[in-house]
Amino acid sequence: MIATRLHPDKQSAAQAIAREIAELIELRSKSGKSTVLGLATGSTPLPLYAELIRLHREEKRSFRSVITFNLDEYEGLGPTHPQSYRRFMEEHLFRHLDIPAANIHIPDGLSKQTERNCADYEASIRAAGGIDLQVLGIGRTGHIGFNEPPSAADSRTRRVQLDEVTRRDNSVFFGDVTEVPHGALTMGVGTILEARRIELLAFGEAKADIIRRAIQEAPSPGCPATWLQRHAACTFHLDAAAAKSL
Ligand code: F6R
Repeated sequence: MIATRLHPDKQSAAQAIAREIAELIELRSKSGKSTVLGLATGSTPLPLYAELIRLHREEKRSFRSVITFNLDEYEGLGPTHPQSYRRFMEEHLFRHLDIPAANIHIPDGLSKQTERNCADYEASIRAAGGIDLQVLGIGRTGHIGFNEPPSAADSRTRRVQLDEVTRRDNSVFFGDVTEVPHGALTMGVGTILEARRIELLAFGEAKADIIRRAIQEAPSPGCPATWLQRHAACTFHLDAAAAKSL
């Protein structure tokens, strides 16, 4: 079952989720436990990351006990490439917080041993104790992470081919669609479903149709976000525009 929570705007949604993350970290660190966060890139989580940075700077919240795993990375883009997700995360989150560098994980877009690398990524998530809270956006194709249709419920971290809709949508970051890689490495749907809690964010009218499909269509590989219906603790945080077709 997917729970939906309507927020007046994306800033309010960001504040609510950032507060939830901060409370989770505080609770777990009181008993000496780390907190494992699954993180997304793209434009949707930016207000959330800004709010986490504010909590760190102004409310002196510490993120030292946090371990992170990003969902995905473009194939062929290294950490210094301006559009790599590694660089994105450094700029918009990591360099502003006190998460130890060794605790940060992002699939290696330059890896030549993709299968081995993806298996190692899964093993690192397991070794960290699994993901406590996964932040998700959603693509207009129904992708979560870069699990484009068709993606099975038990898919694991692997190389995928990006849908042309996704390449066009993401070309705003690259300037031109020809610059957008065709492949990516992504956590699988099965990997995502193992997170103990999932918070998906979607804002704006362009997401309204896919939000309706994700919640109302029967789960199937053709719309990978529908698999989230099988998760016991998944909330969609929406503004009115993204919720308008529900
Ligand atoms: C990115 C990711 C993708 C995005 C989705 C929405 O790490 O996993 O699933 O969340 O493509 O992107 P935006 O937020 O730019 O609309």
